[in-house]
Amino acid sequence: MGVRLIKISVVYFVIGVLLGYYMSTAHAYNLTPVHVHINLLGWTSLTLAGILYVLFPNLAATKLAKAHFWLHNIGLPAMMIGLAFMVYGNTSLTFATIISANLVTLAVILFAVNILMNLKEKTE
Ligand code: HEM
Ligand code: HEM
Repeated sequence: MGVRLIKISVVYFVIGVLLGYYMSTAHAYNLTPVHVHINLLGWTSLTLAGILYVLFPNLAATKLAKAHFWLHNIGLPAMMIGLAFMVYGNTSLTFATIISANLVTLAVILFAVNILMNLKEKTE
């Protein structure tokens, strides 16, 4: 699961950087919130989570980790697509954006609960 998350996160990294590149060249700064959250919730957050799951395999083996993985990976793309529609003034996906943002928030809370409950110092 950790390795899978790191691989997914680099896909977000490439998309986020390409979007930043497009924004700079086209002066399309209204996409900044999409760029920011693809990079920070996609690349940085998922890489860090992935590294923690690799470093502490017991964290990755829990139901909380599974729930975090799926809620984050379903919620984030939906939230980003909805947000892109919203910044261009199309409100047809606003409700879906709110739902998906709540999924991502729940994912992060479950991730935090997993860390707080199950992260133990390595003994060897
Ligand atoms: C070559 C790569 C990148 C390019 C070309 C790029 C481009 C941009 C541009 C054009 C903006 C809007 C600036 C403005 O509104 O004045 C922006 C904002 C931002 N970018 Fe990037 N970006 C890149 C990579 C990244 C990465 C890797 C991250 C995070 C891991 C990141 C985080 C942010 C943040 C947080 C903002 C908002 C800054 C603010 O609110 O003032 N960017 N970026
Ligand atoms: C589900 C989780 C999240 C939600 C719903 C959310 C929502 C928002 C909203 C509504 C804004 C204001 C956008 C605007 O003014 O156009 C914002 C801005 C921002 N958020 Fe988040 N956020 C989330 C998670 C995060 C995380 C985890 C990070 C960093 C690791 C982050 C970094 C930022 C930054 C840097 C900005 C300023 C962007 C700019 O300058 O346009 N957010 N976020």
